[in-house]
Amino acid sequence: MANTEAVRDSVDAWTVEALGPLTPDSLPMLDALVVHSGWNQTAQDWGVFASFGSIYAVRDAEGRIVASGAVLPMGKRRSGYLAGLTGRGVAWISMILVAPALRGQGLGRRVFDHCLRHVQDEDRIAMLDATPQGEALYRQFGFEPLWRLTRWRRGASPATQTAPADKPALEALAVMDTDALGFDRTALLGELLGRPDSFCVRSAQGFAVVRSGRVAHHIGPLLATDEESAAALLRRAVACLPGPVLIDVPDDRPLVRRALTEAGFEPQRGFARMSLERSGHRGNQGQTHLIHAIAGPEFA
Ligand SMILES: CC(C)(COP(=O)(O)OP(=O)(O)OC[C@H]1O[C@@H](n2cnc3c(N)ncnc32)[C@H](O)[C@@H]1OP(=O)(O)O)[C@@H](O)C(=O)NCCC(=O)NCCS
Repeated sequence: MANTEAVRDSVDAWTVEALGPLTPDSLPMLDALVVHSGWNQTAQDWGVFASFGSIYAVRDAEGRIVASGAVLPMGKRRSGYLAGLTGRGVAWISMILVAPALRGQGLGRRVFDHCLRHVQDEDRIAMLDATPQGEALYRQFGFEPLWRLTRWRRGASPATQTAPADKPALEALAVMDTDALGFDRTALLGELLGRPDSFCVRSAQGFAVVRSGRVAHHIGPLLATDEESAAALLRRAVACLPGPVLIDVPDDRPLVRRALTEAGFEPQRGFARMSLERSGHRGNQGQTHLIHAIAGPEFA
């Protein structure tokens, strides 16, 4: 990563570029930003942003990527009369990462501002899940917290069950997913479910998708009609996982919280789900009582 000599005199000198398709050159630099922040995203996750959305980046004088941001459109883009009936499409902003040596100089604000303008140019509602560091920045742009969640982590522990080999049809999950969120992310859900190393536990009341990450498996989305069923799905998913596990759970879920504690999870840090109201629209808020774990702060 760049050292302080490489820091330019003025923030205005930093140019934000749209990255386009990932290359053998750009991907390791994006991965390095993830590693430096101890995040869990993989090359496959960057691939999702590149194929379904947009990645923005800032390079230092040597051409190394020192800041990133991603925009992932979800739901349909509608405006005017139709927006009142169906809700406007949203776009998820994530992966706002700045190389540690260059933090506190306006780079995060600059790349985020670029992502937000992209979302607004597309007439979508901007949403995100913020870390405490990010929340301070996003509030300055007018984002307000909708609800709060906590990341829980469990270390390695022997698996007691085998992960289901069969995956359900995407359509069977997508209806509940769209109801829960208030917008459609079926293509993204299909990508997560379709990964060779992901699996899904299911009951008549809901489902949980599990995928591999850089440092841990990630459980989510975990959707269910009631919290007790969500806790049961969680126990089944966890029983299949021998390695470290992460899950991001809304804060008002006492039964899920108890199941997590009993399974050896500990809270790591908070997130805030935030949106930016625009022209009186906050978007369709969905049915949040169905959401017992999000897909991840990068995927809604
Ligand atoms: C959050 C992050 C992207 C900010 O980038 P940055 O380049 O350091 O931020 P900027 O210099 O543009 O600062 C913009 C604002 O962010 C806020 N901010 C930045 N770092 C902060 C921190 N450590 N604590 C509290 N607020 C912070 C401040 O409000 C700042 O405004 P100010 O200049 O008026 O004080 C960067 O610290 C980072 O990569 N953190 C790790 C990954 C992360 O948490 N990303 C956010 C995901 S939601």
